[in-house]
Amino acid sequence: MQRKILVTSALPYANGPIHLGHLVEYIQTDIWVRFQKLRGNRCIYVCADDAHGTPIMLKARELGITPEELIERIGREHQEDFAAFGIDFDNYYTTHSRENRELSELIYERNRDAGHIDSRTIKQAYDPDEGMFLPDRYIKGECPRCGAADQYGDSCEACGATYTPTDLNNPVSVLSGATPEERESLHYFFRLQDFEDMLKEWARGGHVQPEVANKLEEWFQEGLREWDISRDAPYFGFKIPGTEDKYFYVWLDAPIGYMASFRNWCERNGEDFDAWWNADTDTELYHFIGKDIVYFHALFWPAMLHGAGFRKPTKICAHGFMTVDGAKMSKSRGTFIMAATYRHHLNPEYLRYYLAAKLGSNVHDLDLNLDDFTQRVNSDLVGKLVNIASRSAGFISKRFDGTLANELPAPEVYREFVARGEQIAELYENREFSRVIREVMALADQANQYFDEAQPWVLAKQDETLPQVQAICTQTLNLFRVLMVYLKPVVPKIAAEAEAFLNLEPQDWQSIRSPLLGHSINRFKALATRVERADVDAVIEDSKATMAPKAETAAEYGPLADNPIADPVDINTFGQVDLRVARIDEAALVDGADKLLQLTLDLGGETRNVFAGLRSAYAPEDLRGRLTVMVANLEPRKMRFGVSEGMVLAAGPGGDELFILEPDSGAKPGMRVK
Ligand code: 2FM
Ligand code: ZN
Repeated sequence: MQRKILVTSALPYANGPIHLGHLVEYIQTDIWVRFQKLRGNRCIYVCADDAHGTPIMLKARELGITPEELIERIGREHQEDFAAFGIDFDNYYTTHSRENRELSELIYERNRDAGHIDSRTIKQAYDPDEGMFLPDRYIKGECPRCGAADQYGDSCEACGATYTPTDLNNPVSVLSGATPEERESLHYFFRLQDFEDMLKEWARGGHVQPEVANKLEEWFQEGLREWDISRDAPYFGFKIPGTEDKYFYVWLDAPIGYMASFRNWCERNGEDFDAWWNADTDTELYHFIGKDIVYFHALFWPAMLHGAGFRKPTKICAHGFMTVDGAKMSKSRGTFIMAATYRHHLNPEYLRYYLAAKLGSNVHDLDLNLDDFTQRVNSDLVGKLVNIASRSAGFISKRFDGTLANELPAPEVYREFVARGEQIAELYENREFSRVIREVMALADQANQYFDEAQPWVLAKQDETLPQVQAICTQTLNLFRVLMVYLKPVVPKIAAEAEAFLNLEPQDWQSIRSPLLGHSINRFKALATRVERADVDAVIEDSKATMAPKAETAAEYGPLADNPIADPVDINTFGQVDLRVARIDEAALVDGADKLLQLTLDLGGETRNVFAGLRSAYAPEDLRGRLTVMVANLEPRKMRFGVSEGMVLAAGPGGDELFILEPDSGAKPGMRVK
């Protein structure tokens, strides 16, 4: 039976370019969609730019253009990047659309009429100079726990504390520098708690991965709370029906953007939208998302849909984040790679292949190791797969006029290759792409081995046109064809070139049932060339250059510009701080803390355990064995992960621009720093 499947990827914000971290998701989704289509299912893949919210409004203001102009420009760039990476949406739209406005109003009104919307006055930080309420990220101040300066209103990068902006000491508005005031405003809330029973049943019904189900259980334990879905003017978004100056929070209309993009597609393709979205539809709905936005997709979204009488998702497929060479993508190290930078130097199909080789159905983070990337593409794609075709094609075109033999010498091998298709299909269906790649590469090894053992080049020396030579090469080219069909969802462009070489119409999963016999093929052209490490290095160098802050003048962006020297302290006060040289004996990632590294420090005989906010700037292996300077008499601090017994000194604004202090050569662990 032909399944009807609607698939979405998360909507990228319309205020910045697509980077490799984004591409993990689009590539994962696109592979799954292409697989469904190849199997003959009716699968529609929609997406859109996420166009609303404060950051987009402010970015447009900064550029001196309207938000509409900004989202139009960014939307175009996004689509160019997606096309280059072979992401084949059936529809790519924007959340700033008529369809989205209508559906957002409808879903809101149905929920409101069913009693699921409350309103009340709340207090919020307000920037009197800018005349607007401030989201948490637009307020900075000193951390209420460790005192670190310049911390955002929601969490501290130095000690990992989380809090609300009103807890910050000496808060300032990031926009104007003014001290925020507390002001009252009427807000609208979606009563998530009304849906507790429904959500529990849904969450336990196999609609989410086991790790996500566990997380949901934790959230159920904590209790579901109402969700603030309104924002005050000025805001770029949709006005809430029945209000003068209240807007839907961007996260209310973003997932509705999935529906709106689909509705736009339906209107242009004569499809019945309601048949896919009514509560008892037999169509399927899959959302691919990052693990950071599970709350929105597995709680708010099904609840909003349910409250409005629509169907709920069939599956939420969450994935982990991408690291590069074992560390968070970093602007200063050049590993924060934009899609456009990558494709300038390297073939997008290679990234698709590499990510597929790493992706499973779980939510684990996934590492793009640049050496491994180079090596895998060269050994698997070029060395194994394409090699099958390149070594057989020459014989057929030169000696047999481009025509395949009328019979296979080893039909049972061909049948075995075809029979493996069902298992491979099941792995695709379950998003076990790394296992798909393993299976296909094992078959590629088998095909190469067949060719090696048959030694057609030896036979051809005896007689140029020996039928056996034609038969052997017909066998290997047929095996190659099967493997190309299996890999078509992963490397669609290489597969299309392989189809052109084999003189075939676009293949589907069933096409391989019978082999190609007595069939004429075209001349072989290289389907994939080796990756050179120099090209990978060029991506890194370009990324460093693209991502460097664009300073107009040194004074404007110099280290002292927004970071003035602190008030004086007397020498005795300073002397109370015991600074020591320490050797980093061990550095490790901390589960559940994406900003921290756990360091084991040698103080010349004494060992200290320190949690340092260095993870976005350093990979653990970059630190092991190095000397640095630490505050040795800082009171031990109890953190969620253990006790931190000191603090390592580092310079820089934070994030990936943080540089540990290192003493000159000759310094020894334990020496006092004065
Ligand atoms: O996290 C993000 O990048 C959001 N723009 C994703 C939105 S997904 C959906 F709900 F629209
Ligand atoms: Zn802190």
